[in-house]
Amino acid sequence: MIYMAPLQGFTDYVYRASYAKVFNTVDAYFIPYISVKNNVIPNKYSREILPENNTQSRVVPQILAKDADEFEFLENILTNQGYSEFNMNLGCPYPMVTNRGKGSGLLPFPDEIYKILDHFYSSAKGELSIKLRAGLKSADEIKDVIKVLNQFPLKEVILHARVAGQLYSGEIDENAFSYATQNLKHKLVYNGDIFSKEDFISKQHKFPGIDTWMLGRGIIMNPLLPHEIKGISLTDKELADLLYTFHQTMLERYLEIMDNEGNALNKMKQFWIYFAQCFPNPKKAMKHIKKVKALNKYNPTVRSIFNEIAG
Ligand SMILES: Cc1cc2nc3c(=O)[nH]c(=O)nc-3n(C[C@H](O)[C@H](O)[C@H](O)COP(=O)(O)O)c2cc1C
Repeated sequence: MIYMAPLQGFTDYVYRASYAKVFNTVDAYFIPYISVKNNVIPNKYSREILPENNTQSRVVPQILAKDADEFEFLENILTNQGYSEFNMNLGCPYPMVTNRGKGSGLLPFPDEIYKILDHFYSSAKGELSIKLRAGLKSADEIKDVIKVLNQFPLKEVILHARVAGQLYSGEIDENAFSYATQNLKHKLVYNGDIFSKEDFISKQHKFPGIDTWMLGRGIIMNPLLPHEIKGISLTDKELADLLYTFHQTMLERYLEIMDNEGNALNKMKQFWIYFAQCFPNPKKAMKHIKKVKALNKYNPTVRSIFNEIAG
């Protein structure tokens, strides 16, 4: 199975819905985290979790909370929206988050994680999975965290085996991932640095017991990566057509929901930061896209970039 990772600012509901409509290759979609600010959840998060924006068969919302109260507050909002499966974020690496005791900021404090899980399971309204890093400062932290996770009936655990300080670069700690394969009682999902079918095969050889893979940047750089991994073969023309349809689906939806064309265009420019990697010359494609200031210039620019792959 392949899961789409949550990527704040990229895999928003327009992205997820367009992806599901055009490619039928992902088995579950994870919504980027929601969190509380001054006892309310910001509007940008409310839109992300609306049931009408999440009609795919399995969509999992993610909670970023520092304690059991915050967690319950968010869980209640999600339950009221009809969700019955939640994911807890123990991975966000940014100091603004970790210094507040959230995301991977909780990893050195297994007792705090215990309190949140104990509270959740005392009145559980649904299933819970965890997405975590190997540690905040050291990959050794995962050992005590696993002892806590093993005490609860979690649905599954998704591990991105880096420590927070690495952010998204440097080596994945494969020893930490192996440790989890041996010591965690729950189903384990692999996440991190799968950018090609070769990367996937190499991880599969290293971790033969894993049958579910979460892909993040690999998908947004190449939305056809799940096709490649699952061995769905299409002609180059069919693949190029799918990518174009995906692009157009997103553009149309942003134009529908944004206040003005400029905002929709900005969203598409953000999308191109990774999407440009689908093309033979990503830097050149991005340069053209960046220059565009209006929709009537954007459309022909996109067409000409696509013409390069259509040959
Ligand atoms: C821009 C960006 C935003 C992200 N937002 C989230 C998030 O909201 N929640 C989360 O659990 N992980 C988030 N992540 C981490 C990814 O879900 C994933 O764990 C990480 O990118 C490693 O997987 P990959 O190598 O396949 O990209 C984010 C990563 C990036 C690059």
